[in-house]
Amino acid sequence: MKVLFVCLGNICRSPSAEGVFREMTSATTDSAGTAGWHVGKPPYGPMQEAAQRRGYDFSDLRARQFSTQDFDRFDLIIGMDASNLDDIEALRPAGNETPVKCFTDYAPNSDMSEVPDPYYTRDFDGALDLIEDCARGLKSEIG
Ligand code: 4NP
Repeated sequence: MKVLFVCLGNICRSPSAEGVFREMTSATTDSAGTAGWHVGKPPYGPMQEAAQRRGYDFSDLRARQFSTQDFDRFDLIIGMDASNLDDIEALRPAGNETPVKCFTDYAPNSDMSEVPDPYYTRDFDGALDLIEDCARGLKSEIG
Protein backbone atom coordinates (compact mmCIF):
# COMPACT_ATOMS: atom_id res chain seq x y z
CA MET A 1 0.00 0.00 0.00
CA LYS A 2 1.34 3.44 -0.97
CA VAL A 3 -0.31 6.50 0.56
CA LEU A 4 0.28 10.12 -0.46
CA PHE A 5 -0.78 13.02 1.78
CA VAL A 6 -1.38 16.34 0.02
CA CYS A 7 -1.91 19.92 1.24
CA LEU A 8 -1.23 23.35 -0.25
CA GLY A 9 2.36 24.18 0.73
CA ASN A 10 3.64 20.75 1.87
CA ILE A 11 5.29 22.38 4.89
CA CYS A 12 2.58 22.09 7.58
CA ARG A 13 -0.36 19.66 7.29
CA SER A 14 0.70 16.99 4.79
CA PRO A 15 4.24 16.48 6.12
CA SER A 16 2.70 16.24 9.59
CA ALA A 17 0.22 13.65 8.34
CA GLU A 18 3.08 11.71 6.76
CA GLY A 19 5.30 12.08 9.84
CA VAL A 20 2.57 10.90 12.21
CA PHE A 21 1.20 8.10 10.02
CA ARG A 22 4.58 6.61 9.12
CA GLU A 23 5.13 5.82 12.82
CA MET A 24 2.01 3.63 12.81
CA THR A 25 2.11 1.74 9.56
CA SER A 26 4.04 -0.54 7.23
CA ALA A 27 2.52 1.30 4.25
CA THR A 28 4.80 3.43 2.08
CA THR A 29 4.11 7.11 2.79
CA ASP A 30 4.92 10.39 1.09
CA SER A 31 3.53 13.92 0.98
CA ALA A 32 3.28 16.73 -1.58
CA GLY A 33 1.85 20.22 -2.04
CA THR A 34 -0.49 21.39 -4.78
CA ALA A 35 1.60 24.60 -4.88
CA GLY A 36 5.32 24.65 -5.64
CA TRP A 37 6.30 27.57 -3.40
CA HIS A 38 8.29 25.58 -0.83
CA VAL A 39 9.82 22.81 -2.97
CA GLY A 40 12.95 21.42 -1.30
CA LYS A 41 12.20 22.98 2.10
CA PRO A 42 11.81 21.09 5.38
CA PRO A 43 8.52 21.37 7.31
CA TYR A 44 7.74 24.82 8.77
CA GLY A 45 9.73 25.51 11.98
CA PRO A 46 6.79 26.02 14.37
CA MET A 47 5.14 22.87 12.97
CA GLN A 48 8.30 20.83 13.58
CA GLU A 49 8.64 22.26 17.11
CA ALA A 50 5.05 21.32 18.03
CA ALA A 51 5.63 17.83 16.63
CA GLN A 52 8.94 17.47 18.49
CA ARG A 53 7.16 18.17 21.78
CA ARG A 54 5.11 15.02 21.05
CA GLY A 55 8.13 12.95 20.13
CA TYR A 56 7.94 13.16 16.34
CA ASP A 57 10.87 14.05 14.10
CA PHE A 58 9.87 15.56 10.74
CA SER A 59 13.32 16.98 9.98
CA ASP A 60 14.10 14.53 7.13
CA LEU A 61 11.02 15.54 5.13
CA ARG A 62 11.33 17.88 2.13
CA ALA A 63 8.54 19.61 0.22
CA ARG A 64 7.73 18.67 -3.34
CA GLN A 65 4.90 19.56 -5.68
CA PHE A 66 2.04 17.17 -6.42
CA SER A 67 1.98 16.03 -10.04
CA THR A 68 -0.25 14.06 -12.36
CA GLN A 69 2.16 11.10 -12.18
CA ASP A 70 1.30 10.69 -8.50
CA PHE A 71 -2.02 9.16 -9.53
CA ASP A 72 -0.13 6.17 -10.96
CA ARG A 73 2.48 5.99 -8.20
CA PHE A 74 0.11 5.78 -5.19
CA ASP A 75 -2.81 3.56 -4.16
CA LEU A 76 -4.50 6.24 -2.07
CA ILE A 77 -4.25 10.05 -2.17
CA ILE A 78 -5.41 12.01 0.87
CA GLY A 79 -6.00 15.77 0.83
CA MET A 80 -6.41 18.02 3.87
CA ASP A 81 -9.25 20.29 2.68
CA ALA A 82 -11.80 20.73 -0.10
CA SER A 83 -9.56 23.06 -2.06
CA ASN A 84 -6.77 20.44 -2.05
CA LEU A 85 -9.23 17.83 -3.33
CA ASP A 86 -10.28 20.13 -6.20
CA ASP A 87 -6.65 20.87 -7.12
CA ILE A 88 -5.77 17.16 -7.00
CA GLU A 89 -8.77 16.10 -9.11
CA ALA A 90 -7.92 18.74 -11.73
CA LEU A 91 -4.73 16.76 -12.49
CA ARG A 92 -6.30 13.27 -12.65
CA PRO A 93 -5.31 11.49 -15.88
CA ALA A 94 -8.13 10.15 -18.07
CA GLY A 95 -9.12 6.65 -16.98
CA ASN A 96 -7.28 6.79 -13.62
CA GLU A 97 -9.34 5.53 -10.66
CA THR A 98 -7.00 6.10 -7.69
CA PRO A 99 -9.15 7.02 -4.68
CA VAL A 100 -8.79 10.61 -3.45
CA LYS A 101 -10.14 11.20 0.07
CA CYS A 102 -10.16 13.94 2.67
CA PHE A 103 -8.07 13.02 5.74
CA THR A 104 -10.91 14.03 8.08
CA ASP A 105 -13.10 11.27 6.52
CA TYR A 106 -11.06 8.85 8.67
CA ALA A 107 -11.23 10.73 12.01
CA PRO A 108 -13.14 8.63 14.56
CA ASN A 109 -13.38 11.40 17.18
CA SER A 110 -13.92 14.56 15.15
CA ASP A 111 -16.68 15.88 12.89
CA MET A 112 -14.38 18.44 11.23
CA SER A 113 -14.67 18.37 7.43
CA GLU A 114 -11.15 19.74 6.83
CA VAL A 115 -7.80 20.00 8.60
CA PRO A 116 -7.56 23.77 9.31
CA ASP A 117 -4.27 25.20 8.05
CA PRO A 118 -2.04 26.08 11.02
CA TYR A 119 0.11 28.28 8.77
CA TYR A 120 -2.84 30.68 9.01
CA THR A 121 -4.56 29.68 12.29
CA ARG A 122 -1.22 29.30 14.19
CA ASP A 123 -2.88 26.41 16.08
CA PHE A 124 -0.16 23.83 15.47
CA ASP A 125 -1.22 21.67 18.43
CA GLY A 126 -4.85 21.66 17.32
CA ALA A 127 -3.75 20.55 13.85
CA LEU A 128 -1.63 17.76 15.35
CA ASP A 129 -4.51 16.60 17.58
CA LEU A 130 -6.75 16.27 14.53
CA ILE A 131 -4.01 14.71 12.37
CA GLU A 132 -3.31 12.09 15.07
CA ASP A 133 -7.02 11.22 15.21
CA CYS A 134 -7.28 10.98 11.40
CA ALA A 135 -4.10 8.85 11.29
CA ARG A 136 -5.45 6.40 13.87
CA GLY A 137 -8.65 6.07 11.82
CA LEU A 138 -6.68 5.53 8.61
CA LYS A 139 -4.56 2.90 10.34
CA SER A 140 -7.68 1.03 11.41
CA GLU A 141 -8.87 1.01 7.76
CA ILE A 142 -5.68 0.15 5.89
CA GLY A 143 -3.21 -1.04 8.55
P1 4NP B 1 0.21 23.73 4.36
O1 4NP B 1 0.25 25.23 4.88
O2 4NP B 1 -0.63 23.72 3.09
O3 4NP B 1 -0.44 22.96 5.46
O4 4NP B 1 1.66 23.33 4.11
C1 4NP B 1 0.71 26.31 4.12
C2 4NP B 1 2.03 26.65 4.17
C3 4NP B 1 2.50 27.75 3.46
C4 4NP B 1 1.62 28.50 2.70
C5 4NP B 1 0.27 28.15 2.65
C6 4NP B 1 -0.18 27.06 3.34
N1 4NP B 1 2.08 29.64 2.00
O5 4NP B 1 1.24 30.42 1.51
O6 4NP B 1 3.31 29.84 1.90
